[in-house]
Amino acid sequence: MSGTAPAPGTAGQSTTGPAFLDVSGLVVEYPVRGGVVRAVDDVSFTVARGSTLAIVGESGCGKSTIARSIVRLLRPTAGRIVVDGTDIAGLSERRLRPMRSRVQMVFQDPYASLDPHLSAQEIVAEPLRRRGVRSAAERRAEAARLIDRVGLPASALERRPAEFSGGQRQRIGIARALASRPDLLVCDEATSALDVSVQAQVLDLLREIQRETRLTYVFISHNLGVVREISQEVVVMRAGRLVESGATDRVLAAPRHEYTRALRRAALDPAVIRGRKPRGLVAAVSPPA
Ligand SMILES: Nc1ncnc2c1ncn2[C@@H]1O[C@H](COP(=O)(O)OP(=O)(O)O)[C@@H](O)[C@H]1O
Ligand SMILES: [Mg+2]
Repeated sequence: MSGTAPAPGTAGQSTTGPAFLDVSGLVVEYPVRGGVVRAVDDVSFTVARGSTLAIVGESGCGKSTIARSIVRLLRPTAGRIVVDGTDIAGLSERRLRPMRSRVQMVFQDPYASLDPHLSAQEIVAEPLRRRGVRSAAERRAEAARLIDRVGLPASALERRPAEFSGGQRQRIGIARALASRPDLLVCDEATSALDVSVQAQVLDLLREIQRETRLTYVFISHNLGVVREISQEVVVMRAGRLVESGATDRVLAAPRHEYTRALRRAALDPAVIRGRKPRGLVAAVSPPA
């Protein structure tokens, strides 16, 4: 831990007003043969409503595990995940149900998360059924509106996932997430597989949607350039632990932790700029105190 960082283990405290998302003391362990792997170890941060918190760190540091915890694809081992006043960390599936639509996720690989047999319109209409929109005509109309909202032409409605480019598929994934009318969107490497120019367009779309709807984002990325574009606050993770956090401008301009400095150096590496993930940094940096 950096000796100069304020309140190690927390982030987002500088934002005013009550936090929309308040994660504290999050611990996630995976059972493995002969014991457990602690993938997330005592991580805390808050996100103000309508703002974006980025989580950054190299492959394997626990980012997706945090994402899966917030959308409760997994139940954390310990800690609190308070969404708009409700701690969802330990809720039963039944008590979780009313919260599920409020917290949605956009995945890195939209292709893997979109049913290949359904049309774009059917994919986006599916959450509307769960939201209780009874009329099929209404579901189709709302799906068409959402597909238009994410910048796809009407001709996209009847096409299947295989007929779209990566960027278009990611737009469908965003439209599907929006169909649940979420308050919180967790984007796990949502633009990482896209070409730089397409990535910029999808980031623009996400920012526009946030301006219009006051959606709160947790944006996970290994790319510091993307983090700078999209977030007001950032959490830097390493090997399951939070090493540094604070306002994105400050953390990127004047990182207090050697690990963040190493990430920043790696971000300037041409290999990374071309889209490869920064791997092997842990070995290059002295272990945390
Ligand atoms: N289902 C699982 N079972 C066991 N270990 C896992 C599982 N999922 C992830 N891990 C481990 O947890 C750590 C964090 O993984 P992950 O959250 O996917 O990191 P990131 O998204 O930052 O790449 C890694 O060491 C990974 O190998
Ligand atoms: Mg991941």
